[in-house]
Amino acid sequence: MRIGVLTGGGDCPGLNAVIRAVVRKGVATYGHEFVGFQDGWKGPLEGLSKPLGIAEVRGILPRGGTILGSSRTNPFKIENGVERIKENLAAQGVDALIAIGGEDTLGVATKLHELGVNVVGVPKTIDNDLGATDYTFGFDTAVNIAMEAIDRLHTTAESHHRTLVVEVMGRHAGWIALHAGLAGGANVILLPERKFDVEQVAGYVEKRFQHQYAPIVVVAEGAQPLDGQMILHNQELDAFGHVRLGGIGQWLAEQLEAKTGKEARTVVLGHIQRGGTPTAFDRVLATRLGLQAIDAAHEGDWGKMVAMQSTDIVRVPLADATAELKTVPLERYEEAEVFFGS
Ligand code: F6P
Repeated sequence: MRIGVLTGGGDCPGLNAVIRAVVRKGVATYGHEFVGFQDGWKGPLEGLSKPLGIAEVRGILPRGGTILGSSRTNPFKIENGVERIKENLAAQGVDALIAIGGEDTLGVATKLHELGVNVVGVPKTIDNDLGATDYTFGFDTAVNIAMEAIDRLHTTAESHHRTLVVEVMGRHAGWIALHAGLAGGANVILLPERKFDVEQVAGYVEKRFQHQYAPIVVVAEGAQPLDGQMILHNQELDAFGHVRLGGIGQWLAEQLEAKTGKEARTVVLGHIQRGGTPTAFDRVLATRLGLQAIDAAHEGDWGKMVAMQSTDIVRVPLADATAELKTVPLERYEEAEVFFGS
């Protein structure tokens, strides 16, 4: 078989580890050929591809980003998008696709499968918000980066008797905020899953100052105050209809400073959370998902996504990944609340 590989959506550490595992096993064990489609769905849409063999995947296991490039291109928003993809696959002799991506990329993969394209999906996102898989690779790395930042912020916040508000990514799920906040000993953690009362947050902050410790507040970019509008820098929508989040940290710091009389500053971790080398956990998960994806493709098990359930790598229908956003359950938030303000 000749198999196309693509990576779509926001990048994350571990994408290269998947590509490497797919190609290494695909060539060595099954004798398949590969072609790398560039920049997500833009690649098959515009016929942009490059060679992808053993030589191309040497040395990429620890590298962040993706050697194939990525984009948020949505072929269903482009005239004759699906026909163009089918034509380009046929022109390049490609029998099937392995699509590595999150909600949007796998949503496109699901629809293409229904329209007769042979596809296997691999879940990635630092947000960890895909259904049917316990973890997505990229998440562990993002959490560790945020945790290290929080560790560093504790000492400087204490020296200056300041509140430091740390804004983390995660879109409409609070997984990164919850795990990084718990691991980093945050004073308060605010998630999109539960609206927060800014008066209560100010109370936690004040209590922490009374204990002579400076508060670290971790806020997910999608968190919202009670009865408030979501705070956004930018109202622009991408090709999948998502708004660009960000700005809640700055707003919250201003509110906390006004309410407590103590200086409050904001740190927006932004794309640092997506950059650089993957953790061991993410390298192993990405590698195992890649191995299962090429097995599925070899067996012609189309329309499946490979997933981690407990410690096993399994196959589930692609549609299950995007049927419902996997958000933080209330009881997980309540575990973290025990530490707020103390
Ligand atoms: O989905 C991953 C993610 O990093 C989100 O956490 C964040 O909201 C979004 O992508 C940012 O995307 P971009 O880099 O396109 O602005």
